[in-house]
Amino acid sequence: MFDLSGKVAIVTGASRGIGRAVATLLAARGAHVIAAARGDHAAPTVAAIHGAGGGAEAASVDVTDSGAVEAVVAGALARHGRIDILVNNAGITRDQLLLRMKRDDWDQVIATNLTAAFVFAQAVLRPMIRQRGGRIVSISSVVGQTGNAGQANYAASKAGLIGFSRALAREVASRHVTVNVVAPGLIDTDMTRAISGQAQGDWAAQIPLGRLGDAADVAAAVCFLASDEASYITGQVLAVNGGMYM
Ligand SMILES: NC(=O)c1ccc[n+]([C@@H]2O[C@H](COP(=O)([O-])OP(=O)(O)OC[C@H]3O[C@@H](n4cnc5c(N)ncnc54)[C@H](OP(=O)(O)O)[C@@H]3O)[C@@H](O)[C@H]2O)c1
Repeated sequence: MFDLSGKVAIVTGASRGIGRAVATLLAARGAHVIAAARGDHAAPTVAAIHGAGGGAEAASVDVTDSGAVEAVVAGALARHGRIDILVNNAGITRDQLLLRMKRDDWDQVIATNLTAAFVFAQAVLRPMIRQRGGRIVSISSVVGQTGNAGQANYAASKAGLIGFSRALAREVASRHVTVNVVAPGLIDTDMTRAISGQAQGDWAAQIPLGRLGDAADVAAAVCFLASDEASYITGQVLAVNGGMYM
């Protein structure tokens, strides 16, 4: 099950956290992974995949630079002739109560978390339609489902990914391209380590399964949605949140 041999996958934000776990798992299942992050940040992920006998290459891209995104996709197509899986994972927070939120905090979060997914999806769609198949999985958040004080920008971007994915799912279903969302809860990564211990404790107390999630928990859901076994699933939001939002 979940054999991805022969598939070419692009994973954004693959330098650490959830993106690194996704890249590692897709490669372990046989995909050739293009691990994207800024500068040479994805190099350690690629080295680890190679060390485990998998196929991967690093792509240096700031996902807010549309030209650079298009170049990554064009390069991958030129080298491999196909793109089967896109995982829109790169994301940031710039938390602030709305009255104090700077326009730049809003713009940066929307550009990184939402607009980049649009640019990447548009770039991979033509080859996927030509191939008559593909998988687009975007990483949203429980915050996009519930809202969270101090995260109006982040919640808007993550809820936006859900609406975007459902609309696109309807557009391309007849071409056998599926478009789904994974909505993690509180996952133990650099992003959540930046939250204060007190706030982390408050959040963790709301998790029925009694623990923070691991990046691997999210990667498993992405791998499933990227697989042939998920071919009848599109336009869905798969929550990986320990039950914190049902
Ligand atoms: N951790 C959680 O609890 C949680 C919960 C729900 C949803 N999520 C979502 O899951 C995704 C991954 O989160 P994480 O916790 O793994 O975060 P993380 O550890 O902070 O990693 C963020 C990743 O995004 C990349 N990135 C950020 N801005 C970028 C840009 N402009 N261009 C290219 N890459 C960029 C980073 O790459 P660089 O090395 O270039 O910085 C890094 O690989 C995000 O979309 C986040 O919103 C996380």
